Formats: sequence, structure tokens, C-alpha cells
Amino acid sequence: MRWVLIKNLKSHAGEEVEIRGWLYNQRSSGKVRFLILRDGTGLVQCVLTKEEAPGLFDLAGEITQESSLKLTGTVREEPRAPMGVELSVTGIELISRAEPYPITLKDHGVDFLADRRHLWIRSPRQAAILRIRSTVEQACRDFLNSRDFVLADAPIITPNACEGTSTLFEINYHDSRAYLSQSGQLYNEATAMALGRVYCFGPTFRAEKSKTRRHLMEFWMLEAEAAFLDYEDNIKLQEDLVYHLVQTVLERHRDDLRLLKRDISKLEAVSLPFPRLSYTEAVSLLNEKGHSFQWGDDFGAPDETVISESYSSPVFVHRFPAKIKAFYMEPDPKNPEVILGADLIAPEGYGEIIGGSQRISDLSLLERKIKEHNLPVDQFQWYLDLRRFGSVPHSGFGLGIERTVAWICGIEHVRESIPFPRTLYRMHP
Ligand code: 4AD
Ligand code: MG
Repeated sequence: MRWVLIKNLKSHAGEEVEIRGWLYNQRSSGKVRFLILRDGTGLVQCVLTKEEAPGLFDLAGEITQESSLKLTGTVREEPRAPMGVELSVTGIELISRAEPYPITLKDHGVDFLADRRHLWIRSPRQAAILRIRSTVEQACRDFLNSRDFVLADAPIITPNACEGTSTLFEINYHDSRAYLSQSGQLYNEATAMALGRVYCFGPTFRAEKSKTRRHLMEFWMLEAEAAFLDYEDNIKLQEDLVYHLVQTVLERHRDDLRLLKRDISKLEAVSLPFPRLSYTEAVSLLNEKGHSFQWGDDFGAPDETVISESYSSPVFVHRFPAKIKAFYMEPDPKNPEVILGADLIAPEGYGEIIGGSQRISDLSLLERKIKEHNLPVDQFQWYLDLRRFGSVPHSGFGLGIERTVAWICGIEHVRESIPFPRTLYRMHP
């Protein structure tokens, strides 16, 4: 018997096939029993009648939620079914009968579900989000590969603070001090001088003290870096990437987006080029909207939400004051108080999804900035070498996967956009 994935059943109408999965739910109307099976690719309703197969009918009634089983049956077109097909069951093989399952089909509180994240991910909604995440990650790679970027993995254990010293996770590395990486950028800058255009994609760590719907302690970041790329090229690369991600999900995940009750028209409204707003213009916009804000302050989540409300595409806010940004950002030659960098703010209040900039390529300026930021210059000598040996203008960015997925899926909190979230008060399971 041919084993078929549920998502592919439609092309097997009329055939007898086998499906393998877990019982999501069942209901019965006396003489007809409906088993809803899930296999990770979708859900399908499987039908048994007492009249046609009394033995199977009784056996099916004893199968508990989340038991694993193989079903054989004939695929029938059923326009009213979500998958467009259902299965007329001819055989059941129970593989493992599940104990009473803690997550029922009624609503549970978030803490209850988070404690059982290893089971919660089986729910159709969570599985849909994780499928979309997988596609987003793949689409990131495909996009950069198609633009001649080389994947060069950055280390997780590092002696350097890339994004300030206040969010470092410190570890003991054989009696010397090391940190979990906040960003692979510094290493990207080195590999870019070796390979031209590079990216890394891995987990990054921030000991964030904030308990918000946008912050995780461990999150995945796609980071690209390219030699000879200037500020403007960098922005274009980012908007093309993000547009590509949205289009790819729209193409491949209509069913998942519908299951998530995502307002698809909001994603369809995303168009190129993305609007660009200087930090100074953004400050005026905030104040015009009655949202009082001082030039020189950093945006908080509510400020980003107000800015995003004016646009249906993600918006770049560029040329932030150097004082509130990382040490490595190139000052704008026209006004060295601001930097040649931008944050990309997602629509609908999802906040910053990308941070990027042109990097300082001048040795003495970079050395001075490292000191001004109270970072240990000796630990950065290897990084300064990149400016000693054939320094070139170069730029790059980092895109947070969880925030991007949360936005595309239209979900409330980033914790649902990663299989096992690490949040301020939770690292279990
Ligand atoms: O703006 P950030 O801090 O930029 C960097 O780390 C640069 N070194 C990247 C680079 O240029 N190579 O972080 C980049 C993105 C943010 O825009 C956000 O999407 C995400 O990473 N991010 C977080 N996502 C979830 N939880 C957190 N605590 C995050 N902190 C940053
Ligand atoms: Mg940032």
C-alpha cells in the first residue's frame, strides 16, 4: 500500500492509500464515525460506517486523542472538507495508544500551554506557524544564495560584545571569560573580506531584562555582510529580501495563513520600494501624531507602532543619532552626529525586524569608537586588523527570524514563532 502525506492526498482521489499519523479528534453520529488524523502536513477526515465495517467501527471508537496509527482507505473528493478530500477507511493499525492527553480541544491558558510546549506544537495552529518559519528560513537562504552570498557560519562562543554589554550571557570558558554571541556580525565582516559577500544564520543570545511580546533570550538571526556594499545598496538588498519572504509565504502557505486567520490582504499590500524616513522625520511624525518624543531618545515599542501605522509596507528609519547606536556604524559624512544605518520597522506594530548599517572602515575612527563605548580594545585587535589589511567600505544587516515570522503569521507574541522559546522567566521545556 502506498504511504501518502495528507497534504498530497488530493492528487490520489479514487486510489487506495495508507496514511500515518496521530488522532487529532473524533466524533460519531451513531452509525458513522469520523476520525480526524494529522500527520504534520495537514488534517484529514477519515470516515467509517458501522454497516460496512462493524469491527473497525468499534476499534476506532476506542482510539484516544494523540494515539499514533496507520489508516488505509480510499481517497474521495469532498468539496466541503478543508483538504478537498476525505478517506473512506478500510483498515486501521493502532501503533501506540495515547494516555489521556492534557491538551484538549477547548481553550487553555498560555502558561498551561507553555509548560507543555513539547505537546502544544502538535496543535494545527502551532504546526502551521512552524511550517511557515521553515519556509521563511529556506527563502532567506535561497535569496542570498541567488545573489552570490556565501554561507559562512559564525561562532556562538565569543570574547566580544557586538551589541553593547548590558545584554551579555557570560560563560566560563576554561577559566577565561566568554559570551554567547549577540550577533555574528563581527565575524561576518572578517569572512566578507575573504569571500566578498557572506551571510551567517544561527541562534543569537541576549539577556534582555524586558518581558515584551517581541523579546526572546535566544533568537535566530539571518545576518548578511558584503564588501564594497554601501548604505544605499544595503537598504535595497534588505527590501528585496523581505519582499521575497512575503511573496514566498503567500505563494506556498495560503492554507496555513487561513488557518491562522491572518488578514492576507495586509500581506498582499506589501510593495516595493519600502518607504524611507529619517530618524529626524520620524521624530516629527511622532510629535505631529500627538505622541511626544525627544530627538536623541531611542524608540520604544509604542513609538515603533505609531510609526508603522502610517504605512502598509515595512518602513526604514535611517540616520539615527550615533549616540544611541552600536560602535561600528559609519557616521554620515554630511552630518557625523547621525549614522549611515537603518532599522526596518514591520507594519501592524510588529516592531523592528532588521537592524543594519554601513560599517566604519577607518582604523583610527573605529579604535576611538571602541574606546568611547568602553569596550576592551585588546579583545578587538583581530577586528581592527580588518581595517589594517585592505579595509574597504562595507555594509550588512541582521534580520530577526521570530519577529519576521510573527508579523507574517499575524500572531500576538514571538514565543509562538520558535519551536522552544526562551523568555525572561522560562527556559523549560
Ligand atoms: O538590531 P540588532 O541588535 O542588530 C544586530 O545585532 C546587528 N549586529 C546585525 C547586523 O548588522 N549583522 O538585531 C537585529 C534584529 C532586530 O532587528 C530584531 O529583529 C532581532 O534581531 N532581535 C530580536 N529578536 C527577538 N528577541 C530579541 N531579544 C531580539 N533582539 C534583536
Ligand atoms: Mg536594532
